[in-house]
Amino acid sequence: RKGNFEHFMEKEIHEQPDSLTMTMRGQLIRGGEQKAKGILLGGLKDHLKTMRRSRRILFIGCGTSYHAALAARPVVEELSGIPVTMEIASDLLDRQGPIYREDTAIFVSQSGETADTLQALEYAKSNGALCVGITNTVGSAIARGTHCGIHLNAGCEIGVASTKAYTSQIAVIVMLALLDKDMKELAALLMDEQSLLVFGRGYNYATALECALKVKEVSLMHAEGIVAGEMKHGPLALVDETLPIIVIATRDASLNKQQSVIQQLKARKGRLIVMCTEGDAEFMCPDGTCRFIEVPKVQDCLQPIINIVPLQLLAYHLTVFRGFNVDQPRNLAKCVTTQ
Ligand code: F6R
Repeated sequence: RKGNFEHFMEKEIHEQPDSLTMTMRGQLIRGGEQKAKGILLGGLKDHLKTMRRSRRILFIGCGTSYHAALAARPVVEELSGIPVTMEIASDLLDRQGPIYREDTAIFVSQSGETADTLQALEYAKSNGALCVGITNTVGSAIARGTHCGIHLNAGCEIGVASTKAYTSQIAVIVMLALLDKDMKELAALLMDEQSLLVFGRGYNYATALECALKVKEVSLMHAEGIVAGEMKHGPLALVDETLPIIVIATRDASLNKQQSVIQQLKARKGRLIVMCTEGDAEFMCPDGTCRFIEVPKVQDCLQPIINIVPLQLLAYHLTVFRGFNVDQPRNLAKCVTTQ
């Protein structure tokens, strides 16, 4: 219905404050006073790692949808550091332009049904690229045919000339560019918790202690680093569905024992964040009930150097989210000259 407007186009132009709000709602992590603390884009979460590692991002669309991607391209290029190529769908098909397995191809389409864009999607898929859809139509051919995607949620667009979809497409692509690194997202989830346990053993017992120390000293959240072998001798009593627990289970001689720790914590419905070696997530927790921090594999004795970095970032982001002073934590001095 056109309401007070004479035409749908006029109505849809005026709807943009609302349609943009709808587009952004649900994609943001809320902090205090309704301020946005970060970006979620939940529809992409299983493919974010692949996207971040891609060699190139291709935006593919037609008409207004192509223009939306063109408008947002500079911010994507600047913030992701990944080269971005623009493709008009029909031109890509005419040229049979090269697309590689290491590419992320992002298909932008209001309707999700545009034939050229759909055909370009089939072409990109057959070349092995990760295919992401940005559409305004749930269940459309492009939404169904892509590996993952974002729903614009701009509301139905009836006027043939696309207006409100254009601004929502730009907003979504900018959000994509601003998408938080993994640890920021994790910190946003944990920012209101009272306490955090960190289980490590062997080379990474120190990592667990150091993570807990960093979290305590800067974010002022209680945290405890525990040698995993002690779990059954007391700490297990704390485990429930709410207390967040980080288990360091990267590949080394302790891996089997840490897998057993994970099983025991899962049996008590523990809220687990597993630090594992890249590519191990599926096998560490096949039922998908854990969150993961994946790190590259290095020599066992050097693994603590790699493992602590995301945990330092976690402490940092937790502190910023909780509104405390990162560089001068409460009651602490850089150099303690008194006993
Ligand atoms: C112009 C216009 C078209 C569409 C194009 C792609 O106002 O609406 O240029 O943008 O046909 O359509 P979608 O976005 O549905 O793939």
